[in-house]
Amino acid sequence: MSGRRNFIKTSMLASAALITPAAYRGNKNQQQGKNTAKGAKPIVVSTWQAGLSANKTAWATLAGGGSALDAVESGVRVTESDAENSSVGLGGLPDCDGKVTLDACIMDHKTRCGAVAFLQHIENPVSVARKVMEDTPHVMLAGEGALQFALEKGFEKTNLLTTSAKKKWQKWLEKSRYQPVINIENHDTIGMLAIDQNGDLSGACTTSGMAYKLHGRVGDSPIIGAGLFVDNEVGGACATGVGEAVIRIAGSAVVVELMRNGHSPEEACKEAVLRIIKKHQNLKNLQVGFLALNKNGEYGGYCIYKGFNFALKTRAEEKLIDAKYEIDK
Ligand code: GLY
Repeated sequence: MSGRRNFIKTSMLASAALITPAAYRGNKNQQQGKNTAKGAKPIVVSTWQAGLSANKTAWATLAGGGSALDAVESGVRVTESDAENSSVGLGGLPDCDGKVTLDACIMDHKTRCGAVAFLQHIENPVSVARKVMEDTPHVMLAGEGALQFALEKGFEKTNLLTTSAKKKWQKWLEKSRYQPVINIENHDTIGMLAIDQNGDLSGACTTSGMAYKLHGRVGDSPIIGAGLFVDNEVGGACATGVGEAVIRIAGSAVVVELMRNGHSPEEACKEAVLRIIKKHQNLKNLQVGFLALNKNGEYGGYCIYKGFNFALKTRAEEKLIDAKYEIDK
């Protein structure tokens, strides 16, 4: 075990400094447009292609006059229960010890929030996070305690390691090399933001985290202010990608604060991306994407490397949108 841990660390260091902040600049041919569905209400946006089907379920709640909170929970549950998705919930790629460990959080328009981290055996961690929010005085439960809480609340134990994920892990074990492939292998956390008919905002974020991470590693997704933040006066934001980089700048909270200070959602996401770039010497494989939705129903995303997209659903539109980016790779 400790040999494998050391190898992971060494491999991460060995990939250092191939792309530096100075090398990426000047992605001038992208327009700084505003994605906007001004006045659209209800509205739901979520990260990556998986967001399309998650949005459909969220929309069923929103269109029926349901709350944004119910919408985002039901929406991301779709992705959590999708065994084909290798980065979220059931079917998620395991850690280096072959254990699927999940992180999730949820936040509503009253600034109530709940989270679970390093949770095993439960298919829908976002719903456990909601129980933490609603039934306890706490914000986050982790590990064994989170599992015990979930079981006490009636959640069932499930084997989350699918045959396909197990095979991939066994293949990975042959070399045990930590080499994430950006936009593909392990960064498609689902983050979802919605505004309901009343104009109230909620968000949710859930992931199985980085494939083959160290056992016990927790990323940004369950951390309020990093993987997700909602302020009903301003808007909400969520993050996807390398969680460590998002945590270092309190990413989603920063995006919301930038919107509070007048930035459009896309501008706010870009500013947070630039901050991450500025704070990191080594950008190789460091993909991070932010998605934001403001109180007016304007939305936008931005990422470090080309490839991040997000799904939108309003009464008038249902589509996948390519986020703007800093580095064309
Ligand atoms: N953003 C997901 C993670 O780093 O775990």
